[in-house]
Amino acid sequence: MVDPVDLYDTSYSSSNPGDTVHERVRLETYGEDLGQTSWMTADECKEFIGWLGVNDGDQMLDVASGAGKVALFIATTSGASVLGIDINENALATAQESARGAGREQQVRFQRADANVELPFPEASFDAIICIDSASHFCERRRLLADWRRVLKPKGRLLYTDPLVVSGQLTYEEIATRSSLIGSFVFTAINANERFIAEAGLKLLHHEDHTEAIVQVSRRWFDARERWREELVAVEGEATYEGLQRFLKVANLLPSEGRLTRHAFMAERPE
Ligand SMILES: C[S@@+](CC[C@H](N)C(=O)[O-])C[C@H]1O[C@@H](n2cnc3c(N)ncnc32)[C@H](O)[C@@H]1O
Repeated sequence: MVDPVDLYDTSYSSSNPGDTVHERVRLETYGEDLGQTSWMTADECKEFIGWLGVNDGDQMLDVASGAGKVALFIATTSGASVLGIDINENALATAQESARGAGREQQVRFQRADANVELPFPEASFDAIICIDSASHFCERRRLLADWRRVLKPKGRLLYTDPLVVSGQLTYEEIATRSSLIGSFVFTAINANERFIAEAGLKLLHHEDHTEAIVQVSRRWFDARERWREELVAVEGEATYEGLQRFLKVANLLPSEGRLTRHAFMAERPE
């Protein structure tokens, strides 16, 4: 058993005044910082917005919106109205503060919702759904996709990334360390997402292997944390520091060897 590390609360409360070390680590990890707690780079985010083709006036749902700046970025660049949902209260508070700070609290809103159960929205509510590196926290992919289909308008599009696609062999210790953040982790067999998408009544429009982003981001994140070790330990404590480094090492090794891969899927709700 590997001791679990609380990445999300550590990240979502790290905007406290004086905690500039996490900001430095983020800059060295991502270059352009979108406040993400995922493997997505800013370039990838721009690419995904292009895939979805969201525009002024569209209603978009960001499932597991984290610190909310990705939702804010999408709204600012596309003109869409974005609703972010997450289960983490610190994330929601940070997200609401960011939207207020940007003067976009009408265009970008956040609310608590558990993606593991039916979403609290009527059928055909959204033109687009995005879910970055979070579907792997939810238990039933088929049920999840069917619910996303329900809340999408006809011809609406959804895009999600799955960072835990099993494409080779993994040991028990590797799986345990890769799952050592607080929360659930679901590993999915290669080619299974495509089957679940079809079974949920969605039409797969596009699929790309995005493993390289996880290889790059995990390496840069690990290295930046090594450089700022002393300051990070003072803020987050030795156990969290070491636990997160162990996690990042395995998060880098498995995709580097092609045994665990990350994939982006875009699908459409037919008429
Ligand atoms: C890997 S982070 C991704 C956050 C964001 N999409 C991004 O790119 O920065 C995963 C997020 O899933 C959220 N989460 C975990 N379980 C959830 C659930 N059952 N319902 C909604 N959100 C959940 C966590 O709180 C966390 O913010």
